[in-house]
Amino acid sequence: MGKEIKRYPEALTRAFTQAAEMIVAASGRVVCLTGAGVSVDSGIPAFRGSQGLWDRYDPLEYAEIDNFRRNPEKVWGMLAEMLIVVERAVPNQTHKTLAEFEEKGWLQAVITQNVDGLHQAAGARRVIEFHGTSRNLVCLECDWSWPRFSLVDSRMPPRCRRCNAILKPDVVFFGEQIPRPALLEATAAAEQARVMLVVGTSANVHPAAEMPVLTKKAGGRVIEINLEPTPLSGRVADLTILGPAAIGLSEIMQICERIAGHG
Ligand code: APR
Repeated sequence: MGKEIKRYPEALTRAFTQAAEMIVAASGRVVCLTGAGVSVDSGIPAFRGSQGLWDRYDPLEYAEIDNFRRNPEKVWGMLAEMLIVVERAVPNQTHKTLAEFEEKGWLQAVITQNVDGLHQAAGARRVIEFHGTSRNLVCLECDWSWPRFSLVDSRMPPRCRRCNAILKPDVVFFGEQIPRPALLEATAAAEQARVMLVVGTSANVHPAAEMPVLTKKAGGRVIEINLEPTPLSGRVADLTILGPAAIGLSEIMQICERIAGHG
């Protein structure tokens, strides 16, 4: 099959059918890489693209570890805004459909760049948190770590109860390493996958964006669902479906069920 970029609505049914056929043929060896786009319907803004967080905040100033160390109060201004939104967010259709794919045995794991915990809240069981989690706070001075208390009404910036240093959410900033267990697990999952489903990520940030490349190099196929083309489109991706993830995944799920005789 050639590399194709399909735009809603012209080749809609064919693209969804192709995706469903690849997923069913993979006999459960499907892994999904997700990005901020899957949580936009839950009210959490993406980083890039129109109304992205990085339109308002310079990522080098606000998401870079040395700058956090230099001026944590300033970075916490942005973090508090973001984390209060995350705290109130609930899973949307995309999280739920992916959890259903796993439940039905078609999806092995989700590798997510998101730190919001919404895949797990939707019922997903195997979630590899590539960029950490906002559930915990860590102290950069004494390494203490504990679950994040509610940020609504709490004093900003939050301080370590042991040494009083300013805390950092347990998320990966630019300039920090990907947590080793997550990197190893994601790499192995990507290499073993027959199909990598890439959903709602601009595929600009490495090494996350290399996961589909690993699948491809190991002989697997890559299906991408995103609002706009990414560096994977037409190169690494065998099929790129341009459109909202929620609709795309629900349609693909229905076709998978028909093909497998469940629906
Ligand atoms: N359906 C499908 N795609 C969507 C939707 C939607 N409903 N809404 C937005 N998108 C797409 C956007 O078009 C964009 O290409 O999701 C993508 C989100 O890209 P980014 O904002 O760059 O998010 P992500 O790829 O997860 O960013 C990677 O960058 O700043 C860091 O650590 C941060 O984990 C993050 C990393």
